[in-house]
Amino acid sequence: MILAIETSCDDTCAAVVEPLGSGARALSNVVHTQTEHGRYGGVVPEVASRAHLERLDGVVERALSEAGVGLEEVEKVAVTTNPGLIGALLVGVSAAKGLAYSRGLPLVAVDHLEGHVAAAYLTEPDLEPPFVAGIASGGHTALYAVDERRGMEGLGATLDDAAGEALDKGARMLGLGFPGGPALSEAGREGDPAAYDFPVALKGRDDLNFSFSGLKTSLLYRLKGLYAEAVAAELPDLAASYESAVVEALVRKMVRAAELREARSLVVAGGVAANARLRRRLGEECERRSLGLVVPPSALCTDNAAMIGAAALYTPALAHPDYLSVSARSA
Ligand code: KG4
Ligand code: ZN
Repeated sequence: MILAIETSCDDTCAAVVEPLGSGARALSNVVHTQTEHGRYGGVVPEVASRAHLERLDGVVERALSEAGVGLEEVEKVAVTTNPGLIGALLVGVSAAKGLAYSRGLPLVAVDHLEGHVAAAYLTEPDLEPPFVAGIASGGHTALYAVDERRGMEGLGATLDDAAGEALDKGARMLGLGFPGGPALSEAGREGDPAAYDFPVALKGRDDLNFSFSGLKTSLLYRLKGLYAEAVAAELPDLAASYESAVVEALVRKMVRAAELREARSLVVAGGVAANARLRRRLGEECERRSLGLVVPPSALCTDNAAMIGAAALYTPALAHPDYLSVSARSA
């Protein structure tokens, strides 16, 4: 039984996870999403750290009670140590060390991106590497060849903004709320995704990197050429077309990476994988190629601690009390 903690960005998370076959099962998965950042239009690191500090105890207690597990039944404590906002990570790492130390338990230090991939083992407990994994979140957009449960080989990454960041910034330019991904989907629900021809960068067939800065600039120039009334009238089309450009860039590279590696399955995770258009388009393209597709349910794609617990099941634990020197790392 693993108690997992995740505080790398603006979600305060704790979960109880146990092994299930070769995968994992979450007995609880509590996420407190900080709403303090909305009025700033983006995550403010210092605000995030303070909010984690205020909420984490309550979130951990809830994770234990919802799982019906007492602290005495916990065998290991797992925590995200990197990458992320350093102050935010420190809150989780300090709490996890304290909990583990006080009960003489081992501690597992988990990489946040390995955590996003491990969400797939909660969804498909029998999933076995090798497969190709695409992660698209607010901070990262990258492709990996996963040959064993630990160890991911980077195949490509964004050269500038992350996909979620591009969605957040685009939404902001359109006067929509934060986080931008869900706000754009909502605004573009009735829109035509082909109304505006936004650029999809690095179209080279075998280039597995991403770039979203040209897309952002393109939206900026479109908006400069429109009166406020026209922006309001065109909002559904603008939102749908912009979202679609991000989605098509992701689908193209993710599917191509799976083809180049001759993978049988493609795993897609990270906050942007909660996007309905992306999920639908991946489904279509993978079906056409008879490529297996694993996209965890939305709640396991956005930041959560169950995925950290799942990754911890196959990450070597640090013995008590050796982990006291473990530190949070931003990269
Ligand atoms: O993985 P995540 O929760 O946190 C990071 O590690 O960054 O990802 C957050 C990102 C944000 O940019 C947010 O706009 C995006 O994921 N996101 C979405 C959706 N839900 C969250 N993007 C598109 N559609 C969604 N439904
Ligand atoms: Zn994340």
